Formats: sequence, C-alpha cells, structure tokens
Amino acid sequence: MNILVINGPNLNMLGIREPALYGTGTYAALCEKITAYCAQKGVAVSFYQSNHEGCLIDRIQESYSDGTDGIVINPAAYTHTSIALLDAVKAVGIPTVEVHISKVEEREDFRQVSYIRQACIATITGKGFDGYLEAIDTLMEKKL
Ligand code: DQA
Repeated sequence: MNILVINGPNLNMLGIREPALYGTGTYAALCEKITAYCAQKGVAVSFYQSNHEGCLIDRIQESYSDGTDGIVINPAAYTHTSIALLDAVKAVGIPTVEVHISKVEEREDFRQVSYIRQACIATITGKGFDGYLEAIDTLMEKKL
C-alpha cells in the first residue's frame, strides 16, 4: 500500500509558526514521525509540501498514475478557499483523508468552510501530528 501525504501552504513553517496552535515540532519532525509509523505498519509513504495551489493540484493529478493508493492531505488555508483542490481529489478518485493539526471547528468563522471535505472519506482535526497517523489508520482500515 502506497500513501501520499500532502501538506499545503505554511506547513513547511511548522515549529516556527504559531506554536500555541500548531506545536513546536518541525515539518521534518512530522515527516519522520509519519515515516516511522508507516514502517511499523508496513506501508510505503511519500511526502509533498507546497505553498502553491497549482503545484498541489499537479501532485494530486500525478497520484492518479503513480501507484498511490491513498492520500492524507492537510490543505492548510486552501481548505477554506480552493474548489480546484476539491475538484482534483474528485478527479483522481483516490481515497483521501483531510487532516488539520488544530481544531478548526473552534476557530474563526472563515475556517468553518472546507471545500475539500466533500471529496474525503474522513476528516481529523485537533489531534496535532497524531492526526496524520490516525488518517493512515483510516486508509488502512479501508483495505486499499
Ligand atoms: C490548518 C488549519 C488551517 O485553517 C490553517 O490555514 C492552516 C493549518 C491546521 O492544520 O490546523 O494553515 O490546516
């Protein structure tokens, strides 16, 4: 099973940006944690992070033909704005789980909209880095 973990804008700044909301762990630490978990579970994992909407869309499209079985995506701020990301996930038809490090439902009104959610099999919020591991479990339970 091959899982692709996609992170959107500003998540490369984890550990620096708003630690009270997102914690002190870096993006590299997040990737290491997921890598160790996937090794333990016998799952192959790859990572992609971009601050650019079109690059995120290109990567989702590539997953259609690169053997990806499941996607874990934290679209960050594009969650709340991007119909194009929603359409990309719909286009490839690969089981996708939406993750947010913070508890978005308890934050500002503008974070209450998630366009991508309607194309996702599950949404996990407010569990910090562990939310990504739960997303991997969710994809594995789907027996991809
Ligand atoms: C986030 C929540 C988004 O509202 C925000 O724009 C982010 C990170 C999260 O992981 O909690 O950049 O997706």
